[in-house]
Amino acid sequence: MIRLLTPADEPLLWEMLYQAIHVPEGSPPPPRDIVRRPELSRYVEGWGQRDDLGVVALQEGEVAGAAWLRRLTGALRGYGHVDDETPELSIALLPHHRGRGLGTRLLTSLLEEARNRYPAISLSVSPDNPALRLYRRLGFVEVGRNGASLTMVLTLSDQRGSNQVYP
Ligand SMILES: CC(C)(COP(=O)(O)OP(=O)(O)OC[C@H]1O[C@@H](n2cnc3c(N)ncnc32)[C@H](O)[C@@H]1OP(=O)(O)O)[C@@H](O)C(=O)NCCC(=O)NCCS
Repeated sequence: MIRLLTPADEPLLWEMLYQAIHVPEGSPPPPRDIVRRPELSRYVEGWGQRDDLGVVALQEGEVAGAAWLRRLTGALRGYGHVDDETPELSIALLPHHRGRGLGTRLLTSLLEEARNRYPAISLSVSPDNPALRLYRRLGFVEVGRNGASLTMVLTLSDQRGSNQVYP
């Protein structure tokens, strides 16, 4: 089952934010409190603001994963910032739910919900993260780099009157 996130879901998003951190094969997992660092906490803290939008996947009543969008602007801009209108995507499943199509379903559901709200969404992904294939398959295109990570954008609609062109 996939449902929309509500403001009451902030606690589960902290866990999903931790799960969203890409750990290269052979590397130890980061400490749990890494998500409290400002560059990460901004993706979740105070969840339920006007422009926040997300979905959660439940299996047998338990949280399996979540995908969410948040606009991060000014001093709070995120790793995948392209402009102040475009929200950034975060997505993660708990490890035992990965690699079986659930991420595709979760992200597809979120994109449906986002289609009438945002003209585009962006993300930042490590080039060695297998999630890159998922993003490309769903239509995200690379528009630049931020350090070692790729910035990708998916154009959803031309609701602002013209398609945004990214550098
Ligand atoms: C990214 C993630 C949400 C994808 O969900 P998923 O259910 O594992 O992916 P799916 O089964 O729908 O497969 C979609 C694609 O994702 C790829 N993929 C991404 N991460 C994968 C993983 N950990 N294990 C297996 N496949 C993975 C697959 O190669 C597949 O590509 P293909 O269809 O071209 O073969 C999930 O793997 C995850 O939580 N990963 C860890 C957190 C993360 O990296 N988040 C993204 C940060 S940018």
